[in-house]
Amino acid sequence: QQAVLKEYLDFAITLARDAGAIIKGALDARMKGGQANILLKYDNPSDLVTETDQAVEKFIKERLAATYPAHKFIGEETMAAGTETYFTSDPTWIVDPIDGTTNFVHGYPFVAVSIGLTIGKVPVLGVVYNPLLDELYSAAQGLGSFLNLTTPLPLFQPPLPLTNLSQCLIATEAGSDRSSGVLDKKVDAIHAMLRRINDNGAEAHSVRATGSAALNMCSVAKGCVDVYWEVGCWEWDVTAAMVILQEAGGLVLSGGTERDESPANIFGRKYLAIRAAGDRTSQLAIAHQMWDVLPSID
Ligand code: IPD
Repeated sequence: QQAVLKEYLDFAITLARDAGAIIKGALDARMKGGQANILLKYDNPSDLVTETDQAVEKFIKERLAATYPAHKFIGEETMAAGTETYFTSDPTWIVDPIDGTTNFVHGYPFVAVSIGLTIGKVPVLGVVYNPLLDELYSAAQGLGSFLNLTTPLPLFQPPLPLTNLSQCLIATEAGSDRSSGVLDKKVDAIHAMLRRINDNGAEAHSVRATGSAALNMCSVAKGCVDVYWEVGCWEWDVTAAMVILQEAGGLVLSGGTERDESPANIFGRKYLAIRAAGDRTSQLAIAHQMWDVLPSID
C-alpha cells in the first residue's frame, strides 16, 4: 500500500509542478500587459473563475485520466460547469486548479494548485504548490509531510505547551458568501478573536487572510500560523492540505462553530485546523477556546 501511495505522490508532485508552470506563465504574461480573462461563477462577483482556472483543470484532468484511467475525479471547475460527480470508495483525485483565484486576478502571490487523493473515501495524499513563491507542500498517509520535498513539517515550533489563544496567530477568510447573516457573523468572529480576554475575547496575536484555504492550512502545517478557521470552503480547497496538516501532527476538526471534536469531513464546509502543539489535549484546549468566542454560523 505504501509503495503504491509513494508512486501516486511522485506523480502528483510532477503534475502540480507542471500545472504551477502554467499558472506562473499566465501571470508572467499578465505582467507584460495580458488580461486575466475573468469569468463570473454563479453570477457572484465574490467567486471568480478565470480561463486559466479552466485550462489548468483540463490539463490536470487529462493527465490523470491518461495515467490512471480507473480513478475518479472531482474538480472545482468541472463541478462549476454542472458535471455530476459521485464520491465513491474508488481512488478519487480532488483538485482545485487555482486556489486563491481572486489573488491570481490581482497578482497577490498566494496562489496554489491543490491535488488531493482519497481511497476508500479517506484522504490519503495531498500536494499543494504555490508556483509564485516556489513552495511545494506534500504528504501521504504514513509518509510524513514536507516543504519542497526535503524539509519536514512543522518548520516552526511553538512555545510548548501552546495553551492559550492569546499566544496564537489565526487565519480566517471572508469567503464568497457575502449575505449579511454570514458576513456579519464572520466579522463578529474576527472581533472576538482579537478583543481583550477580560471582555470574553481571545486577544490573539493577530488575524491573517491569505485568500487561499489550502495555503492557510499549509501555513498551520508549517507552523507559521497556529489556527485556521473557515466556514464556507469546499472539498477541493482542503482535501490535499488536510493530509499535509495531519501528517505534520496537526488536527482538523469538523466543528466550525459548534463544539465538535470529530475529525473534519472534507465535504463539511466547516474547518477548524490546529497546529502541532504538544499533545492532543493542548490542541483541543485551543479548539475549545475558539468555540468559546465564535458566533454560531449555519
Ligand atoms: C477560495 C479560497 C478562499 C476561501 C474560499 C475558497 P478559490 O477558493 O480558498 O480563501 O475563502 O472559501 O472558495 O475560489 O480561490 O478556489
